[in-house]
Amino acid sequence: MFGKKKVGGGCCSAVAEVKRILTEEFIVMADTSKMMAVGIVGYGHLGQYLVERIQREGEAAGLRLAFVWNRNTERLKGSVPEELFLGQLSQFTERGADVIVEVCHPQIVKDFGAQFLSSAHFMVGSPSALSDPLLNKQLRQAAVHHGRTLYVPSGALWGGQDIQRLNDSGTLKALSIRMSKHPSCFRLSGDLLSDWKEGEGRRVLFKGSVAELCPLAPNNVNTMAAAAIAADSLGFMGVTGEIVSDTALSQYHVVEVEVTGANGFSVTTVRRNPAQLGAVTGTATYNSFWSSLLVCKGHGGRVYLC
Ligand SMILES: NC(=O)c1ccc[n+]([C@@H]2O[C@H](COP(=O)([O-])OP(=O)(O)OC[C@H]3O[C@@H](n4cnc5c(N)ncnc54)[C@H](O)[C@@H]3O)[C@@H](O)[C@H]2O)c1
Repeated sequence: MFGKKKVGGGCCSAVAEVKRILTEEFIVMADTSKMMAVGIVGYGHLGQYLVERIQREGEAAGLRLAFVWNRNTERLKGSVPEELFLGQLSQFTERGADVIVEVCHPQIVKDFGAQFLSSAHFMVGSPSALSDPLLNKQLRQAAVHHGRTLYVPSGALWGGQDIQRLNDSGTLKALSIRMSKHPSCFRLSGDLLSDWKEGEGRRVLFKGSVAELCPLAPNNVNTMAAAAIAADSLGFMGVTGEIVSDTALSQYHVVEVEVTGANGFSVTTVRRNPAQLGAVTGTATYNSFWSSLLVCKGHGGRVYLC
């Protein structure tokens, strides 16, 4: 193969050229082996964003794709190299992922979360799944048992690690989160918002525990779920969640977090997350997911907010 290549300077140069190519290939192989191999589960908005960004910036960030799974493989064609398609999710172990990222649906967390943790770190994009106390316990135990980290991306939550610190110091007394969005941005089960008219203004759709809210709005409460995981001492039952429909919010979602500690300590934050009409996920949340993924390098057998 190399003999046919035209290399100036005769046989010594040809040998040097072969050595150079082999060395370069070896360096590439060695670098690839040091990179974190990422398995992406789900190829919707977040999955496509992460896959594209890993393809574009992964090498510099020390990340490479191990596999991409979507329930409909057709959607991967043309954007993802075929050798990275994973046909059956149950065969994920064959691809040797270091970290598996779920950006799909809470059901997949339930069906595969513990299995993922048996061989890789697991970043759970749909943390609302952990409102199920049994699954919550099962995943925490799997993380400890296998020495793998269950990563919870902070998403649109501001100050998650501060909440976790307050929780760990035993001084977190109360936590409430209000999410206000244009009605087209909600995906609710039941008839919480079956009728709405442009210009109708503000309407409180639900206020209660995050545990009760998760099944009603599984796609809209991930931020609250991340907060409830950080505030482990209060749990999903003890953290208050409120969702508000507001037709005036045509350009952004608003996330308000109110934290109460001991001796009159309190923090209130208001985050405006730019979002188009109908978008469940604010644009800043995509970047936030990427930053979270960069953190997933292994933090031992525990839950880690990233
Ligand atoms: N943690 C956060 O802050 C945060 C922010 C945004 C979205 N999310 C969650 O991340 C997940 C992905 O979000 P997205 O915006 O990419 O959603 P999306 O709807 O664009 O994509 C979801 C993908 O999963 C597939 N899917 C849906 N239900 C499935 C099921 N039961 N089994 C297998 N595949 C299924 C869909 O076909 C689609 O390809 C959702 O669960 C969403 O609630 C979390």
